[in-house]
Formats: sequence, C-alpha cells, structure tokens
Amino acid sequence: MIVIVVANLKGGVLKTTSTGFLCQAFHESGLRVLGVDADGENKSLQAWQADADLPWPVVGMAVSNIHKTLPGVAGDLYDVAVIDTPPMQAQRGTVVSALRLATHVMIPMAPTPIEFDRLIEVRKVLNDATDLRPDGIPPATAIMLNRTTRKATPQIVYRQLCEEAGWTVLDAIVGTGQLYTQAWGSPIRRASKTPFGDAANELLDLEPEKVTA
Ligand SMILES: Nc1ncnc2c1ncn2[C@@H]1O[C@H](COP(=O)(O)OP(=O)(O)OP(=O)(O)O)[C@@H](O)[C@H]1O
Ligand SMILES: [Mg+2]
Repeated sequence: MIVIVVANLKGGVLKTTSTGFLCQAFHESGLRVLGVDADGENKSLQAWQADADLPWPVVGMAVSNIHKTLPGVAGDLYDVAVIDTPPMQAQRGTVVSALRLATHVMIPMAPTPIEFDRLIEVRKVLNDATDLRPDGIPPATAIMLNRTTRKATPQIVYRQLCEEAGWTVLDAIVGTGQLYTQAWGSPIRRASKTPFGDAANELLDLEPEKVTA
C-alpha cells in the first residue's frame, strides 16, 4: 500500500484541503483509497467526508502509533492511504509515527519567507522519523507550492530556494480559487483535472533516491 503523509510544521497551510483533493484524485483514477485523519481538530478530514459523503472512507487515527495501527486497519483493502496530519510543532509524536510508515511525504506550503524558514524544522522532524524507520531510508518527499500562481515572483524564487536547499518541489501548484477555499464540507468533483491530479501523478513517479528528507 502506498502511504502518502501530508504534513507541515504549522496549521493553516492546506494540509486537509490537499489530502481531500489527493484522495479524490486517486479515487477518480480507479485506486482504492483510504483517507486517514490523524488530526481530528476543527475542519477535519473525517468531518469533511461525513458532511459531503465523499466516495472513499476516512478513518480517524489521531494517535502516536499510526505506524502500528494503520496496517492492521487497512489490511490489503486499499491501494493508497493519504494521511492528514496535525501541525508537527503541536503533535510531533503523531506526525513522526505517520512518517515512520510513509512511502511518500507531501509538504504543502506557500512561497513566503515564514513558510520557507519553517522547512528547517520540518527537515529535523523528517530526519528523526527516518532514524526510526526499519530501513533507515527516507520516504520520497516533495513540497507542493500553494496560494500562488505560476508567474508570481515568489513562486519562482521560493521554488528555486527550496530546490537549492535540497528539496524536491512538485511542478503542480495550487492557486487561491474558490474551488479550494470553499471546498471543505462539500463534494469534490473532478479532482484529477485540478493541479492535485497532476500532484498525485508526480508523487507516484518520485524516485526515492532523488529525494532528500
Ligand atoms: N487554495 C487556497 N488558497 C487560499 N486559501 C485556501 C486554499 N485552500 C483552502 N484554503 C483555506 O485555508 C484554510 C486552511 O486550509 P486547511 O484547513 O486545508 O489547512 P490545514 O493545514 O489543514 O489547517 P489545520 O492545521 O488548521 O488543520 C481554510 O480556511 C481553507 O478554506
Ligand atoms: Mg487540517
């Protein structure tokens, strides 16, 4: 099973929105999808699934032993699990446990100085989790830039800064449209036609050795 962990240091960076769209995009491509809600706070993935009757299940798992619990819950029923996490800074144990199991990590962030600076702490958490992984090898990891546009100077500048710092940055980027800002709580339609469809494909194509974490 592919396990994609959507994570970042702080809240409000579009973790839950990204998880919902990624789940829907994988579902539309015919994969058996399990959403995992490791946060459960506020506008959670689980509440979104229930309110909108999204066509893939979500299991609540806001615990610090996801690496032990999820395989038993998922069994061999799913092709891909996407885990929505709480902010690393507040719930480090929960996020580290998810990272121990991850095949892929997606870091949603805006191209801003404050979010770029937080990557130093994100890398520390990724490294700590990698030390706890059975193979000691980091999961395939990539940043997805959001709340920006392709031509925006910050998108161009911070993409380059991230890459110079050793991160892989997905080509797909997410704008600020109502499709996303109004998404929570409603059905998600044609996610595969959004940048999240491209992101889903890019994530699956990532070579682990190209990635630093
Ligand atoms: N593309 C977008 N551009 C701007 N704002 C957005 C976009 N997508 C979602 N939002 C809004 O940003 C806010 C945060 O999104 P979201 O809940 O996905 O973040 P989060 O990282 O899961 O936050 P938390 O840590 O609080 O769970 C929400 O109010 C959401 O409606
Ligand atoms: Mg959230």
